[in-house]
Amino acid sequence: MVLAYRGGKPIITTPIKIRDSLSYSAKAGTIEFLSHARGHDLSGYLAGAERGGGAVQRLETIWAQTYGVSHTIACNSATSGILAAFIALEPSLSDRIPMTVHIPVMGMSAIAAVPSLLGFDIVFHDIDEHYCIKIDPAYIQPADIILAVNLFGHPARLHELRALADGRGAFLIEDNAQGLNATERCQLAGTIGHIGVWSGNVHKPLNVGELGLITTNDYALAKGLRGAINHGEASEGRPGLNLRPTELTAIMAMCQIRRALDIVERSRDIALALADTYTDGFFRLPTERDGCRSAWYCLAIEAPTKAARDQAVIMLAAEGLPCRAGYVRIDKMKAFTSYLTSKQTFPNADLVDDHLLLVELCSLEPTDEQVVQMSEALSAVGEEIENGRRTLRRGDIRKSRPKPRKRTSAHKRSKEATS
Ligand SMILES: Cc1ncc(COP(=O)(O)O)c(C=O)c1O
Repeated sequence: MVLAYRGGKPIITTPIKIRDSLSYSAKAGTIEFLSHARGHDLSGYLAGAERGGGAVQRLETIWAQTYGVSHTIACNSATSGILAAFIALEPSLSDRIPMTVHIPVMGMSAIAAVPSLLGFDIVFHDIDEHYCIKIDPAYIQPADIILAVNLFGHPARLHELRALADGRGAFLIEDNAQGLNATERCQLAGTIGHIGVWSGNVHKPLNVGELGLITTNDYALAKGLRGAINHGEASEGRPGLNLRPTELTAIMAMCQIRRALDIVERSRDIALALADTYTDGFFRLPTERDGCRSAWYCLAIEAPTKAARDQAVIMLAAEGLPCRAGYVRIDKMKAFTSYLTSKQTFPNADLVDDHLLLVELCSLEPTDEQVVQMSEALSAVGEEIENGRRTLRRGDIRKSRPKPRKRTSAHKRSKEATS
């Protein structure tokens, strides 16, 4: 078979559709709301009142019931949710300023930006085989905060981290922006830490443009969280910011929940179908850790070398399978390098940087036929690169190969004459 990058026909015969995550019911709900709304209905918050308007309150109740938590606080983004979580935790830790926050080197920059802006200390940690934080327990002191990211939709070792935090008098915040409906030991990701933060931004299954949801089972933390997002008006004198969602966003979110869960289920189906792809060991395809269910926000695939990975990204794109090389290394971002100590190394993350290629499943809508073709494209590209590598390796051993002769000025003159 001639692959597309060599001029053949793409294995994925028609372009994979980019998912339109906005549901009909979200559109209809928005129109219905706006046709009745008056200006003052757009935000239901009242000065001094702890809770938002009717729609925000309904969304919070539905989310708390769906995810089996005592409190849900809606806000305007997951980044704001992380900020609110730190503000809410601070009073319980106020004898230790600055606070120390433990984060993985791989994730979204907000997890470093927020503690950095608050003047907290940041300690970076390497990642495990599922790209989530890998902590040496010796680092965790009383009153520290562990901020675990359920990256690419796979749960971090949440129960272990929670036990570690509880044992040390520390706290666990889960960044569950990518982990909608993921589970560890049958418990939903986002509900295992002291605080969980979820995102409804434009890339997520629950896309309403911008939205954050914060969950906790702790009454005092819930009160602190509400104060943090609501001007500090209801937090007994503590400062807060306006991080509130609008009524319109809450209405869209309620209408989108069903669609978001369908998107996660479809991503799971696709990921599990692709996991069976035969690549003769060339690509390392992702798996779920025992006792875990991933939301498969992204499909993280590893190639054996950086060169092979870079080649694979180009070849897969030519076959019609969009993917990207690597993911965000927060410790390498200029804004955060000052938190690194000279002794720290992150061998797992360094390896992954060079080998990882990502298929952003959540944003793609392949048909069943295209899923089969995606699998065929992975097999064919893996085989082609591996064959090339084998030929190269055989070539490397042939030491006796004559070196090309140096060009003489006569060669040069004859080339000039022909051009
Ligand atoms: C892992 C992770 N954390 C945090 C965020 C921040 O979410 P938001 O855009 O809702 O602030 C994102 C968003 O892309 C994310 O993917």
